[in-house]
Amino acid sequence: GIATGNLLKETGFVTYDPGFVNTAACSSEITYIDGDAGILRYRGYPIEQLAANSSFLEVSYLLIYGELPTAQQLAEFDEWIRRHSLLHEEMRRFFDGFPRDAHPMAVLSSAVSAISTFYQDSLDPFDREHVEISTVRLMAKVPTIASYAYKKSIGQAMLYPDNSLGYVQNFLRMTFGVPAEPYEVDPVVARILDMLFVLHADHEQNCSTSTVRLVGSSQANLFASVSAGVNALFGPLHGGANQAVLEMLDEIRAGGGDVPGFVRRVKNKEPGVKLMGFGHRVYKNYDPRAAIVKQAAQDVLARMNKPDPLLDLAMQLEEIALADDYFVSRRLYPNVDFYTGLIYKAMGFPTKMFTVLFALGRLPGWIAQWREMISDPETKIGRPRQVYTGAAERDYVPVEKR
Ligand code: ACO
Repeated sequence: GIATGNLLKETGFVTYDPGFVNTAACSSEITYIDGDAGILRYRGYPIEQLAANSSFLEVSYLLIYGELPTAQQLAEFDEWIRRHSLLHEEMRRFFDGFPRDAHPMAVLSSAVSAISTFYQDSLDPFDREHVEISTVRLMAKVPTIASYAYKKSIGQAMLYPDNSLGYVQNFLRMTFGVPAEPYEVDPVVARILDMLFVLHADHEQNCSTSTVRLVGSSQANLFASVSAGVNALFGPLHGGANQAVLEMLDEIRAGGGDVPGFVRRVKNKEPGVKLMGFGHRVYKNYDPRAAIVKQAAQDVLARMNKPDPLLDLAMQLEEIALADDYFVSRRLYPNVDFYTGLIYKAMGFPTKMFTVLFALGRLPGWIAQWREMISDPETKIGRPRQVYTGAAERDYVPVEKR
C-alpha cells in the first residue's frame, strides 16, 4: 500500500528514512527496476534488447518522449541535435578561466549551469516550446562541453563539432582529434561507447536524478537542475565509482597484485577501503548492466589488442568476492561501473574523464525525469522533514560569560 504525504497532517507522524531507502518521492512511467530479479527496463523495453539493437539517440528519444521514434522522428531528432552542437563563442572563454588541472566533472557542471546564462534569462522555464528547445540544446551541447573540458586538461586546442558525424562519433572526434589532422573514428569504439551510454541512460530515482528532480521542484530551469545532477554524480559513491575502481585496481597492482590481501582489508573494514564497483542500493542479486559490460570489456580489450593486467585483477577480485560469504551475505555484486573503466581506458580516456562519460550517458534520463516532474500535477516542491535531536530551548549567554 502507499501512504501519502498527508499522513503527517492527519496523524502528526513523520517517517524517518535516512537515504530514502524506502520512501518514494514521485511516481514515474520511465524506468522499471526489479532489484531482486535483476530487471531493468526503459519504458517497458528490457535493457538487454536496447543494448543489443538500439542506439543512444533512439533510447534518448524513447526516454524523453515515451515511445520509440519512427525513422522520420529519429532523423529529425538527430538533425535538430546536430544543429545545436556548437557552443556560444563567449562560452569558450570559461574554459580558459579554469585551472589546467581542474577535474572535468567540475568544469562540466559549471558549464552546464552557464548555458542558462545564454538561453534562459527572460523566459518561462516551463513554457512548452522553451522546454523542447532546451532539451535539444542540452543533448547537443553537453558532448561539446565534455570534449572541451578534456582538451583543456591536456592543453590542446578545442575542435568545433563536425555535424556530418553522428552523436558519439562527433564526441570522439572532438575529444581525440587534433586540428588540421584528419581523424578516423573507429567504428568498434563508437559502437561500444554508444552501447555504454544506452546502459547508463536512466536508472529511476538514483542520487543524481533525485537531485535533478529536487532542484527542479523549486521550478529552477532545466540547465540549473541538470548541473546539480552532474555535481551529485561526481561523488565516488555514485558516478565517481568508475574512476575509483580504476584507482583501486592500480593500487592493487602497485602493491604487487595481492588480490586476496586487498579483499582482507575490505573485510576488516579498514577506513576508506571498499570494494569499489561492488554493491548497489537496489540490485541485490546482480546488476543486469554489469553482465553486459563485463562481456563488452573482454571483447573490446581483445579486439583492440590491448590486453590490460587490470582486467585480470578485476576478474580475480570478482571471483574471490563472489565466493566469499562476507560479500555473498551482504548481497554485494559487481555494479555497472566495475568494468566500464577498463573499457574507457582501452579507448584512451584518462581516468578523470570516466565520470564525465557516465554523465553523457545519463543526460537523457535526467531530462526525461525533469520533464515528467514538471508535467505531473502531483509535483510539489521537495521538502523532506527531519527529526530534531539538538538542544532544548536555552537562553543566550553573552560572549564574555562563556
Ligand atoms: N565494499 C565493501 N563492503 C560494502 C560495499 C563495498 N563496495 N558496499 C556495501 N558494503 C557493506 C557495508 O559496509 C555494509 O556492511 P555492514 O552491514 O557490515 O555495515 C553492507 O555492505 C551494506 O552496505 P550499505 O552501505 O548499507 O549499502 P547502501 O545501499 O547504503 O550502499 C552503495 C550502496 C553506496 C552502492 C555501496 O554498496 C558502495 O559504497 N559501493 C561502492 C561504490 C560504488 O560502486 N558505487 C556505485 C554505485 S552504482 C552507480 O552509481 C552506477
